[in-house]
Amino acid sequence: MSRGGLLEPEKSGTAAFQSDTSVYAERMDEISTLFGRVGETKLRGLVTAFYRRVRGDDLIGPMYPADDWEGAEKRLADFIVYRFGGPQTYIEERGHPRLRGRHLPFSIGEAERDRWMSLMGEAMQEVEMPPTEAPVIGAFFGQVADMMRNRG
Ligand code: HEM
Repeated sequence: MSRGGLLEPEKSGTAAFQSDTSVYAERMDEISTLFGRVGETKLRGLVTAFYRRVRGDDLIGPMYPADDWEGAEKRLADFIVYRFGGPQTYIEERGHPRLRGRHLPFSIGEAERDRWMSLMGEAMQEVEMPPTEAPVIGAFFGQVADMMRNRG
């Protein structure tokens, strides 16, 4: 099932990024081994490309700490590295992710979720995420992004 606002193959010309619940169900076990296949450099590069876009974004940009972009980038990158099976720096420094609770201070509805996903989709294309891995990563982000919604 696809959601409005996400990059879909027919719209973006690539199957690089989509949030597909069937992909999530079938390939969920691959998430914790992505680090070994994709590598730290590409994962950190992805987050850098994503935050470059977030900084200039009119909708979700203002939610982020203007005086700590570097810290925000590190927190997301460390989380992804840990969640995809790499070093546990995120857990050591931040403890249990509690992502839903940590997003409650921000008003996140469909529009904000879709914007996050679309900026991440552009970042995935910029770093040329391998087409074999991109659908798994997209499905994971789609699931988490949907869980972060705390209003319509
Ligand atoms: C649905 C749209 C989303 C919005 C609008 C949003 C917004 C934010 C904001 C404003 C912050 C605070 C920045 C900071 O100081 O670290 C944050 C933190 C964070 N977000 Fe999101 N986020 C979204 C989705 C996601 C998704 C899908 C993930 C994971 C795949 C994620 C993972 C994180 C992590 C790991 C942190 C840092 C938590 C911490 O340790 O403090 N977010 N997010």
